[in-house]
Amino acid sequence: MGEGGGAAVRTRAVICREAGAPWELVELDLDEPGAREVRVRFRAAGLCHLDEHARTGGLPVRAPFVGGHEGAGVVEAVGPGVSRVAVGDHVLCSPVPVCGRCRYCATGRQNLCEDGAGPANGAPPFRLGDAEVGGFRGLGTFSERAVVAEASCIGVPAELSPEVAALLGCTVPTGWGSAVRLAGVRAGQTVVVFGCGGVGTSAVRAAATAGARRVVVVDPVPLKRETALRSGATHAFADAAAAHDFVVADTWGELADHAIVTVGRVDDAVLDAALLVVGKAGQVTVTSLGPGSFRHHPSPAIAYTRRIRGGPHGGCNPLDDIPRLVRMHQDGQLDVGGLLTDRYRLDDVRTGFDDLLAGRGVRGVIIHGR
Ligand SMILES: NC(=O)c1ccc[n+]([C@@H]2O[C@H](COP(=O)([O-])OP(=O)(O)OC[C@H]3O[C@@H](n4cnc5c(N)ncnc54)[C@H](O)[C@@H]3O)[C@@H](O)[C@H]2O)c1
Ligand SMILES: [Zn+2]
Ligand SMILES: [Zn+2]
Repeated sequence: MGEGGGAAVRTRAVICREAGAPWELVELDLDEPGAREVRVRFRAAGLCHLDEHARTGGLPVRAPFVGGHEGAGVVEAVGPGVSRVAVGDHVLCSPVPVCGRCRYCATGRQNLCEDGAGPANGAPPFRLGDAEVGGFRGLGTFSERAVVAEASCIGVPAELSPEVAALLGCTVPTGWGSAVRLAGVRAGQTVVVFGCGGVGTSAVRAAATAGARRVVVVDPVPLKRETALRSGATHAFADAAAAHDFVVADTWGELADHAIVTVGRVDDAVLDAALLVVGKAGQVTVTSLGPGSFRHHPSPAIAYTRRIRGGPHGGCNPLDDIPRLVRMHQDGQLDVGGLLTDRYRLDDVRTGFDDLLAGRGVRGVIIHGR
C-alpha cells in the first residue's frame, strides 16, 4: 500500500507526445497509488479507434499521454481507502469511471458520472523525466502497469481471458449500448448499422439479440461485412446507397426504425445517409467521432419527427451492463472472441493502428508481456 508521492515503479508504455505525433514506446516512472487509486498490471489492452482520434487531436486530450482506454489485468497494489477491489483481483478497466454517489450514478446514468475520466487525486501518475504524463481516459492501458482510480475498475472472473475482458471495457459495451441503450432497439424493428469495426459489430450483435427483424450493415470492407453477417446481421452492403434501396423496398417505403453510426471517422455523407434511411419517428444514434455535420438538418428531422441522439459509452451503466455482458459471454450468448482477429506486442502498437485504419482485421489487442 502506498501513500502517493515518489516514483516507485518503472514501466514500458506507448505514449503520444503531442497531437499528431506518432505512438512512441518509452520507459516511464509510475507513482505509488494514492487515495482511492490502485496499480494494475495489465495483461491485455484493446486497440479502439478512439485512441487514434486522441492521437491525431480529433479528440482533444492533454499531451503527453499514455494511450489505451480499455484493458484487463491484475491489481498489484492499492492506495488508502480502496474498497471496491483488492490486491490479486482480476479486473477490467473502463474508460468511464463510476463513483456510485453522484446524481447521475444515483439515477442510472453512470456514463455521465461526475468523476469524469482522470486521476482520482488530480495528478497524472506517470513521469517521463520531469514531465507529467497522464493516462488516456484516466487509464493508459498501453502501459505494462498503470495507476488508476478504483472507480475505473470492475472485477471479472479469474478464468475470463484477459483479451476478452479488455474488449469488455469499451468496444463491446459501447457498441452493445448504442443499440439497446441509446437506440433502444426492439423486437421486429429495422436497424441499419453504418461501420462494422469492433464497436459496430457489437451493435449488430445487440440489435439481433434484441429481436430486430432486419439488421442491415454498411461497410466497404468485405471482412467486416462477413463478420457482421456471422454476428447477426441479416443483410450487408458495401455502400449506403445500396442499403438505402434495400430498406426502401423491404419496408414498403416506411424506412428503418434506427440508424446507428459506428464508422471510424464520421463525415457529412454518412450522417446524411443515416438521417435519410430512418422513417417517421425514427432515430439516428451517433457513437462515432469525427468532423461530420447534418447538412440536411433540420428539415428531414422535423418533417418525419426523426431524432438524433449521441452519448458516451453507448449509454451503458458500466457497473450493471459490463458484468451482465461478462455473463452473457460466459453463457455463449455473446461471442466476444469472434471480434478478435489480431494480437500485437506492445512494441507493435503502430502496426496495430495501421491495420485498424486500413481495415485489416476486426479488432486487435495488445498482449502485454509477450
Ligand atoms: N461514444 C463513445 O463513447 C465511443 C467509444 C468508443 C469508440 N467510439 C467511436 O466509435 C467509432 C468506431 O470505433 P471502432 O473502434 O469500431 O472503429 P474501427 O475503425 O474499428 O471500425 C470502423 C468501421 O467503419 C468502416 N467505415 C469507414 N467509413 C465508412 C463509411 N463511410 N460507411 C460505412 N462504413 C465505414 C470501416 O471499414 C470499419 O470497419 C469511432 O469513431 C470511435 O472513436 C466512440
Ligand atoms: Zn458518479
Ligand atoms: Zn474505445
